[in-house]
This record gives sequence, C-alpha cells and structure tokens, in this order.
Amino acid sequence: KLEAVIFDLDGVITDTAELHYLAWKELADELGIPFDRQVNERLKGVSRAESLEIILERSGRAWSAAEKAALTLRKNERYRELIGRLTPADLLPGIRELIAALRERGIAVGLASASLNAPLILERLGAGSWFQAVADPAAVRKGKPDPELFLRAADMLGVPPQHCAGVEDAAAGVAAIRAAGMKAVGIGSADRLGEADLLLPSTAELSPERLLGLFG
Ligand code: G6P
Ligand code: MG
Repeated sequence: KLEAVIFDLDGVITDTAELHYLAWKELADELGIPFDRQVNERLKGVSRAESLEIILERSGRAWSAAEKAALTLRKNERYRELIGRLTPADLLPGIRELIAALRERGIAVGLASASLNAPLILERLGAGSWFQAVADPAAVRKGKPDPELFLRAADMLGVPPQHCAGVEDAAAGVAAIRAAGMKAVGIGSADRLGEADLLLPSTAELSPERLLGLFG
C-alpha cells in the first residue's frame, strides 16, 4: 500500500540539474578540463566533493585537499548565484499539483536530496512547507546509490520502506530507492534509468493514480 512518496530535488522538483551543469562547466572551462553533458550525467545525485573528483579525472594531474576545497567553494558560489534567481515558476510541470493531490489523500511526502542547498532552493520555489520530512544530507554517512538518505526520510515520516515510492532523475538515485526496498519511479530515459519500476519521460506524466498503481 502506498503511504509515502519521497522525492529527489535536483531534476525532479526543479531543473537545478541544469544549473549544476552550468556552474561545473564554467569551472571546468576555466581549468581547461574537458567536461560535457555526458560526463555530467555521472554527477547527478552525487555529492559536491564526489562530483569534483569525477571532473578532475580528466585533468591529468593531482590536486591537493586545499585546492579541491577552493574549487568546490568556487563552484558553489556560482551555483548559489544561479539558484538565487529561481522562482515558483521554475517548479517542474505537474509537481505542485501532484504534491497537493498526494497530501489531500493523506499520503505523506518527503525529500531525499544530497544537496546542502536544498533549503534555499525550496524557499525560492515557495515549497518550504510542502515536505513533512526533509532528510539532512549532512547527517548521512553514505550518499546515493546507498539507500541511507531515502531510509532516513521514510523513518522521519514513520512509514516502512515497502510502503514508499521514490522519484528520481539519476541512475544513482534509482539504485538508492531500490536498495531501500521502495518502488522506484524514474524521470528520464530507459538507457540510464532502466532499473526503475516505472519510467516516465517527464514529471508532467506523474499522477497519484500512477503511483498507487505500483502497489497493485
Ligand atoms: C544533488 C544533485 C547533485 C549535486 C548534489 C549536491 O544530488 O543531483 O548533482 O552534486 O545534490 O548538491 P550541493 O547543492 O550540495 O552541491
Ligand atoms: Mg536529481
């Protein structure tokens, strides 16, 4: 039985996946490191520090911890400029309606984002009060594809994982949802999210009926 839906943020609630890409791309260009949207796919759902490691793989040199800290700070400053311009108009299609419809049916709604910027993004979107539980990424030991963030959100909601559905745009996120023992909804294409229990091309296709349908 569906009792809770736990959402990823970047690329599901709003298209910050694109803003992360733009901020990393600017940094990679400055450093002369090749970086494109294909490499960017590997950064989705992955922490800031791990994202930098993936970008630096192609730099052909070693970087000190201090250099890496300076680079992640630079990227985050640029990223925060970009998210500072978000407004409620940047919610992805159907998300506001879906969350309202779920809550109306008494289905709990949670957030499992790896982003330390999540509170600012929710505030910009006017979505600060929509989630009954927001898992704190600073408090988990392992990021996606480990299930920890999703399990923590379910625990905060008081719902067993087998009664939860998770919604994700990243391969690492779909893997995390499945490892948590939840039903996984992928937003995107089958080449990356083939493991999802339900695959939809866009958030506009999400509905309470489709989510309930996952539980037979
Ligand atoms: C999400 C995004 C990742 C991002 C991570 C950390 O999981 O999908 O691309 O690296 O959050 O975000 P942050 O805002 O803390 O740098
Ligand atoms: Mg995402």
